[in-house]
Amino acid sequence: MIRFLYDDELVELTDFEADLTVLDWLRLHRNKTGTKEGCGSGDCGACTVVTVSLISDNSETEAVNTPSSISNSSVPNSVRGDKHAQPRLSYQSINSCISFLGALHGKQLLSVESLEQANTLHPVQTAMIEEHGSQCGFCTPGFVMSLFALYKQDEPEEQLLKRVDQALGGNLCRCTGYRPIKAAAHSALQYRKQSALGQVTDTQAADSEKLVARLQALSAEPLERGGGFIQPQSMVELAAYYQKHPDSRLLAGGTDLALEVTQQMKTIAHIVHVGHVPEMRVKQIQADHLLLGAAVTLSECLEIMSESIPAAREMLLRFGSDQVRNSATIGGNLGSASPIGDLPPLFLALDVTLTLQCGEQTRHIPVSEFYISYRKTSMQPGEFIRSVKIPLPKSDSVFAVHKISKRTEDDISSVCLAIHLPQHEGLTNNARLAFGGVAATPVRALKAEQALNGRAFDEQAVIDGQHQLSAELQPISDARASAAYRSLIAQNLLRRVEMEFSDELCK
Ligand SMILES: Cc1cc2nc3c(=O)[nH]c(=O)nc-3n(C[C@H](O)[C@H](O)[C@H](O)COP(=O)(O)OP(=O)(O)OC[C@H]3O[C@@H](n4cnc5c(N)ncnc54)[C@H](O)[C@@H]3O)c2cc1C
Ligand code: FES
Ligand code: FES
Repeated sequence: MIRFLYDDELVELTDFEADLTVLDWLRLHRNKTGTKEGCGSGDCGACTVVTVSLISDNSETEAVNTPSSISNSSVPNSVRGDKHAQPRLSYQSINSCISFLGALHGKQLLSVESLEQANTLHPVQTAMIEEHGSQCGFCTPGFVMSLFALYKQDEPEEQLLKRVDQALGGNLCRCTGYRPIKAAAHSALQYRKQSALGQVTDTQAADSEKLVARLQALSAEPLERGGGFIQPQSMVELAAYYQKHPDSRLLAGGTDLALEVTQQMKTIAHIVHVGHVPEMRVKQIQADHLLLGAAVTLSECLEIMSESIPAAREMLLRFGSDQVRNSATIGGNLGSASPIGDLPPLFLALDVTLTLQCGEQTRHIPVSEFYISYRKTSMQPGEFIRSVKIPLPKSDSVFAVHKISKRTEDDISSVCLAIHLPQHEGLTNNARLAFGGVAATPVRALKAEQALNGRAFDEQAVIDGQHQLSAELQPISDARASAAYRSLIAQNLLRRVEMEFSDELCK
């Protein structure tokens, strides 16, 4: 059984297909056809809806994911979340076409139909009309919901104005053009200011205390087991269930898994959702490392790493779109074992350790031992990623991450480079160069690393490193890029990093 709010209505469902998407539920089961289906693969944003969940400021897990009783008594309080912390509401845009309905448990769902109340439009809708942000209108509900999510962020308008491109990066419009839509975003944020003064009506100005209480109540009640959508509430439950049923499919954000349903037309009858297990949502920030649960989302990574690994920020901002990052997780990115995933190069360069769990057993392996061959990992049946420990680069290290893709927003890498060159008395020591998109798995360029070790990172070191890279990388040609292009880009990126850092030194 799952329980969630659709607008103000409590929805309780026991009998639903495990792989039913939010989009199909809205359109086919509820006849709410305002939300559109364009690509069905998370790329166009026409299907954007907003979820509202609870987050707790001073806990290491989201309150919504912290059940009232946790059967694993070894979970420390810090991981369980502080019961006395004041939870607040988090509004997030997601792509409903690649989100499974079961994952809505404990949340509120808002679709474009939710915004108009008593014949009054929401200010983002008014702004879209006034700025002529719509022509054929197919993309409009998606843009409206992305703007609505931006409008609802708990930040001053000045900050949100800087985030307009980010908020709209996951939405495509093929006839209006983006200028009027961006103008509508600016105008909506002006209305937001006026709404705070009572001059404009925010039709979704929820009674937040009441909504918090309702969402807390949804999560607090124990979940009855039933149907093919399994939602373990504790690590013990998750590990035991998955060990016993290794053929069921683990679900984190669904941004990869759902494509099997929407693009390959497969049926997934048994899904195990990992998002309600507190240990999978751990976020510990230490002076020299981060410990992040496998179900921590890319949006959360962006927030945490912008502070602790600023060089990774640009790549993380270009990982999918807001809609994708709000759902996609660390575990899903590693678990899908894509050769063009963006986290693996970063993690290889930082020598990240994965904690894998199978039943009651856990083991720790470096990420370099995780990938065996194309789309194959060293996980055993019934084993899953529990968390990652990410050592932070030292301030005097050369550390950079570069993603090359055809489109800046919401595109998969042709090549991604993460480079980590710890420095000792001006010489590189223990170089780590990691690439995505140049082999069947994410790889380290071991020979190029050797060429950089024990010397200054200068132009001659780059020439020697490039020479090794051209020999040791074996990229393939595909729709995104040719092998020759990828090989050249990999070499050029090494030069780019050297130029950036020598510029830094000259300042
Ligand atoms: C429009 C779009 C844009 C994208 N852009 C990017 C991009 O820029 N960069 C990029 O790298 N990727 C991108 N992706 C791919 C995808 O978003 C990422 O791989 C994402 O991190 C997957 O995480 P998830 O939580 O959604 O995984 P899910 O879809 O839930 O799971 C993916 C796979 O991992 C398995 N899995 C999930 N959790 C675990 C776990 N804890 N342990 C073991 N296995 C697990 C699942 O069973 C499944 O096989 C994009 C996808 C879309 C649709
Ligand atoms: S329909 Fe295109 S992102 Fe969902
Ligand atoms: S208004 Fe037609 S696609 Fe955007």
